[in-house]
Amino acid sequence: MRIIRTAAELRARLEPLRSGGIGFVPTMGALHEGHLSLLRAARAAHGTVVLSIFVNPAQFDRGEDLAAYPRDEARDIELAEASGVDLLFAPEAGEIYPPGFRTTVSVGGAVAESLEGAARGRAHFDGVATVVSKLLILVRPDAAYFGRKDFQQLLLVRRLVADLGLPTRIVGCPTVREPDGLARSSRNVGLGPEERRLAAAVPAALSAAVAAVRQGVADAEEIRIRAGRALDRPGLGVEYLALVHPETLEPVAVVTAPTVLAVAVRIGATRLIDNELLDPA
Ligand code: PAJ
Repeated sequence: MRIIRTAAELRARLEPLRSGGIGFVPTMGALHEGHLSLLRAARAAHGTVVLSIFVNPAQFDRGEDLAAYPRDEARDIELAEASGVDLLFAPEAGEIYPPGFRTTVSVGGAVAESLEGAARGRAHFDGVATVVSKLLILVRPDAAYFGRKDFQQLLLVRRLVADLGLPTRIVGCPTVREPDGLARSSRNVGLGPEERRLAAAVPAALSAAVAAVRQGVADAEEIRIRAGRALDRPGLGVEYLALVHPETLEPVAVVTAPTVLAVAVRIGATRLIDNELLDPA
């Protein structure tokens, strides 16, 4: 595995490898089983696997502490190597945002503005869209792999790739979970032992909604109420709990077709998001 710090070196190293196919996994590091599942999917399908690790300052909220985001490059390098990564691109911020940088990629509509967009503010998805565009242009992979855990981000990336005509296939991969159902996340390390136990309420809420749909409940408000009961715990703050269309993200009133239940909660200083596809079929 080669560790690359500059865009120029990345381009030069990729050129002779293009004919064997390139799979790309963009991350912010602090690698966990969720990230590794994306790397495995890429490894199975392409001659060359590129992993990027870049804690993107542009996508962090004002209140959120960029400095507090977990970083452990030595461990990430070991995990990347063990996962069969060929090129690890880990640039400094100045390499991605050169002096005088003034270009933002901003996706419009509900895909960017609802749920996470409303909760975190416009700057978050503008930051994601800009860095993902830049990385996809730099790497020019045949396919790029994203987790469905961040399903709104996945939709946003699909939108920008279609709108900008980027020649990359976007692959969505299943959410990897802990034994109690909690979605793997770099942010889970911020949970204390008591908070970690409380966090199991999030997958419990998703399961309650799945169970309701299985029982034939179609009224979105009723499903939301049942899911909400699992979250009604001291120390857990619900930011949103919403049933939305899986592509447009418009609110759904009656679940007669596949619908996403999306949730964001705060537990202490940690913010967690998760979602589940509810399929009445
Ligand atoms: P990060 O949070 O590091 O996540 C990198 C990728 O891993 C994303 O596609 C995310 O959806 C996926 N992922 C995270 N947890 C997962 C899980 N439990 N199961 C499956 N996949 C999971 O998302 C970002 O970084 C950034 O916004 C980025 C796209 C890199 C742009 O900066």
